[in-house]
Amino acid sequence: MIDVATRRIAVVGGGVIGLACAWRIAQRVPCEVTLIDPDPGAGASAVGAGMLAPLTEAHPTEPDLLELALDSAARFPAFAADLAAASGLDPGYETAGTLAVALTADDRAALGVLAGHLAAAGRDTELLGSRALRNLEPALAPGVRGGLRVDGDHSVDNRALLRSLRRAADRAGVRFVADQALAITDSGDRVTGVRLVGGAHQRADVVVAAAGCWSAGLHPAAAGLIRPVKGEIIRLRARAGVVRPQRTLRATVDGRSVYLVPRSSGELVVGATQYEAGFDTSVSAGAVHALLSDARAVLPGIDEYELTEARAGLRPGSRDNAPLIGPIGPAGLVAATGHHRNGILLAPVTADAITDFLIDGHLPRFAEAAAAARFQTVRR
Ligand code: GLY
Repeated sequence: MIDVATRRIAVVGGGVIGLACAWRIAQRVPCEVTLIDPDPGAGASAVGAGMLAPLTEAHPTEPDLLELALDSAARFPAFAADLAAASGLDPGYETAGTLAVALTADDRAALGVLAGHLAAAGRDTELLGSRALRNLEPALAPGVRGGLRVDGDHSVDNRALLRSLRRAADRAGVRFVADQALAITDSGDRVTGVRLVGGAHQRADVVVAAAGCWSAGLHPAAAGLIRPVKGEIIRLRARAGVVRPQRTLRATVDGRSVYLVPRSSGELVVGATQYEAGFDTSVSAGAVHALLSDARAVLPGIDEYELTEARAGLRPGSRDNAPLIGPIGPAGLVAATGHHRNGILLAPVTADAITDFLIDGHLPRFAEAAAAARFQTVRR
């Protein structure tokens, strides 16, 4: 893929995927790397909670996604360590694990099914009674009846991660262009660059489309493949003296899924709604009410927390919930988008896959299930 004609690589989008790709490409590929984004690190990647949860986010109908997510989770410790060394900033990787808790007998049965599904996939989890749970997390609500301990599901402070990635990319020589991409241009059979809202044309031999849910609007080859999936999320801060959870907590309350992700700083991130509302990022009062009420059913102590933020982000959803990675459309156009609920988790494996592709000319085996070419709109 990288031949004498390839001198300039443009990455469109400065979320976790675009930043990770730009950083890894600049480390390994001898080219000029440009990242185009009006405000890198300010989009959906900054809104999310930073769960690294291949197991508790797993769905039995998505085994390929589980494999990819497990692969990326396994890469995370080295990725975070490399990033800390390259940036001089702590990316906030936390390994305390996750507890999925049950509030009803039905929930407990559902956790048993999840445990069985994960055991069949060779993954260790442990079903716990309410006493054992409260020994682990004394702040849990008295109504919690049992739970599933999943030590392999971790978290990262997504905003610290984004700061580290931006610094590491900068230090690796990535050039930042603070403008918005309007369209990826081509000459019919290969890309020529990126037209910017400000009117300029950024010439490039390879363009990595990593603009999350906006990727579909950048080039006809991606049209209709990615859509925005809204998520509202709140941030709380523990006041001094409050007993705080150590692990990520998850539950289903009145049929709604809720997660609570604690940071060592005292922050608690509670999410998230999920519905399709176009590109709307307003936060509804009903969403905040539901998130607080559901979180309170798991952790009554949140009454003593300060409410510091309510935001909405747009997950980039694909047709099958798996990302689009690799070549799509004209030569030189490379997708790195469609990560839906798993963008932070899948950043290491995506950046490695894209960089390997640029060096070797074919997608590595570990990313084949996410090949962008699986959708029929691909032009060759
Ligand atoms: N990864 C959780 C979410 O998207 O809400």
